[in-house]
Amino acid sequence: MPAALPNFDSTAFRSALGRFATGVTVVTAIGPDGRPVGLTVSSFNSVSLTPPLVLWSLSLTSSSLPMLEAARHYAVNVLAADQLDIAKRFAVRGNPADRFAQVSWRPGENGAPLLHGCTAWFECYNRSRYHEGDHCIFVGEVERCGHTDAMPLVFHAGGFDLTPQRARKAPPSP
Ligand SMILES: Cc1cc2nc3c(=O)[nH]c(=O)nc-3n(C[C@H](O)[C@H](O)[C@H](O)COP(=O)(O)O)c2cc1C
Repeated sequence: MPAALPNFDSTAFRSALGRFATGVTVVTAIGPDGRPVGLTVSSFNSVSLTPPLVLWSLSLTSSSLPMLEAARHYAVNVLAADQLDIAKRFAVRGNPADRFAQVSWRPGENGAPLLHGCTAWFECYNRSRYHEGDHCIFVGEVERCGHTDAMPLVFHAGGFDLTPQRARKAPPSP
């Protein structure tokens, strides 16, 4: 039997999804012209420890889609709390290569850009891609990774949470 029709609209769906707090990453690769490409991605998650697999999803309307589908390798750069400017810069529509202007980075072992100052990074082999609904799900096989102790940038309810380390009092339950 197919799924029942949703009892919500897309605004309610987005609002509910937004209650799931995430980190913020920038996924990067080298395009066919040799220039770096990258965009802000919060759909990153772990899949498997053995083999080491991660996933993230990309809108089918993304201008970076053909380059990221074709890339053999990409990097997932997990942003630190003080990298809000990078998160915003890599989310602006336009030429993906221009986003790297004034951003400090170095090529990873397989060329994919590693951004300076991130709290973690995963160098991935572009293992598989699945088109589902209006997104493409990428599963990456992690070849190298690293991390620092820097606090992560956090995104939830449609905004950046700049004080994840500070305990806040929850409002009373209804
Ligand atoms: C915090 C945040 C998280 C985002 N996560 C995703 C994501 O997981 N997948 C996606 O396709 N776009 C995501 N976006 C939107 C893209 O970063 C944005 O649309 C970007 O301009 C796409 O660039 P492109 O069209 O050049 O690929 C996110 C944006 C922000 C601000």
